[in-house]
Parts: sequence; C-alpha cells; structure tokens
Amino acid sequence: MSFSFQISMTQDELKTLVGQAALHYVEAGSIVGVGTGSTVDKFIDALAASGIKVAGAVSSSVRSTERMKGLGIPVLDAAEVQRLGVYIDGADEIDHGGHMIKGGGAALTREKIVADLAERFVCIADESKLVQALGKFPLPVEVIPMAAAQIARRFADLGGVATLRAGVVTDNGCHILDVTGLQITQPRAFEADVNQWPGVVTVGVFARNRANVCLLGTAEGVKTLRFD
Ligand code: A5P
Repeated sequence: MSFSFQISMTQDELKTLVGQAALHYVEAGSIVGVGTGSTVDKFIDALAASGIKVAGAVSSSVRSTERMKGLGIPVLDAAEVQRLGVYIDGADEIDHGGHMIKGGGAALTREKIVADLAERFVCIADESKLVQALGKFPLPVEVIPMAAAQIARRFADLGGVATLRAGVVTDNGCHILDVTGLQITQPRAFEADVNQWPGVVTVGVFARNRANVCLLGTAEGVKTLRFD
C-alpha cells in the first residue's frame, strides 16, 4: 500500500516562505533595495526578525518605508546611494525569461528607479505569478493626468482597453491606467516603445530591469529560477 501526501499551503504562506528565502541574498552591513507589496511585507518582517543588521534600505514606496521604519530598519534616500548589491521585490506576473509586470500596488515608478540602482533583481513570488506570456494581469501604466485620455487611445490602437484606476494618486502625484487585452510577447521592445509616449511616466513592464533570480513559492517548497 502506498500513501501520497499533498502539502497544501495558502498563498499567504507561500509569500511568507519566499520572503524568508530572500534573506539568503542579504549581506550584513550592506544597503538593500526593497520593493513594495504583500510579498515584500513578508520579506521586511523576516529581515527585522532575522537579526541581520543591514546598513540601511532604499525603499520604493511610502508603504515600505513606513513598515521598515516601524521595525527599526534604517531607510536611506535613493540619492545618497550610488549602487545596490540587490533589489528584492514582488511581481504581478513573471515569464520564463525573468520579464515582469509590476505596479499592482501603484509603486512601479519608484520600483524601477530602485531596481535600476541594483546589480541584481531578486523577485519573490508565489507560483500563481509565473506565466508563459505577459499580459493577462492588467498592465499598470503611471501617467501624467492630462495625458491619460490620449494614452488610452494609443493602447486602443494596440487592441488594449485602458481603465483609469479610480481614486488612486501615486506617491509621485500621478494616475494609473490598467490595460487589459494585451499579449506582450516582445517585452523589451514594448517597454521601450510605450515609455516614449508623451505623458507616460512609467510602463509596468520590467524588461530592461528584469529579474536575475526568482524565488518562487510552490507546494513543493521554494524553487529558484535563474535568468542570467
Ligand atoms: C507594487 O507596485 C507591485 O509592483 C508589487 O510588487 C506587485 O504588485 C506584487 O505585489 P504582491 O506581492 O502584493 O502580490
């Protein structure tokens, strides 16, 4: 007679697992880049509980800054830092090349700025985020408010439907369009193109600043996907 066991974990537990696994990439005494979202919240909590003393963190949002300060992690201004060893952040979608959709939490612009300071991007995500092609998750685009209607028309020309995220003003005082109906098969070219449109602050495709590593939370434990 044989028995098989299936360990079922909630999405929240998978996020906790990868948040803890990310500690492996944090060196004592270093400055770490910290993203935004519910998965990153788990990483921040794990870092505070770990006893690893970092010199500080560069944060991608008011939300993460407040959480870290509340837990005694020093937060530094991005302008004070020339280079980061590692940036740790979640994703809304990640493909098998490490390209991501981000911005579900509206922090995409600051996330891209901090990611750009870092040698390595470590993405932490539960397995529901891994996709064959980007685009099922509505693509967040941060826009200057007066350009929103024109940018929505440009997305319509590509077959997308852009909806203004109601009641949201970003940390930079801008608006978010969420775009459905796109299949982003050439993420790097798509990102470069949309970023040129007047009024676009940041498109939520992270291809130029793609992940180097993804720690993926699965029912079998944390899987490490490497993209470089
Ligand atoms: C924040 O703007 C986003 O880019 C987040 O990194 C992304 O939405 C993942 O968030 P969760 O960890 O909450 O799923």
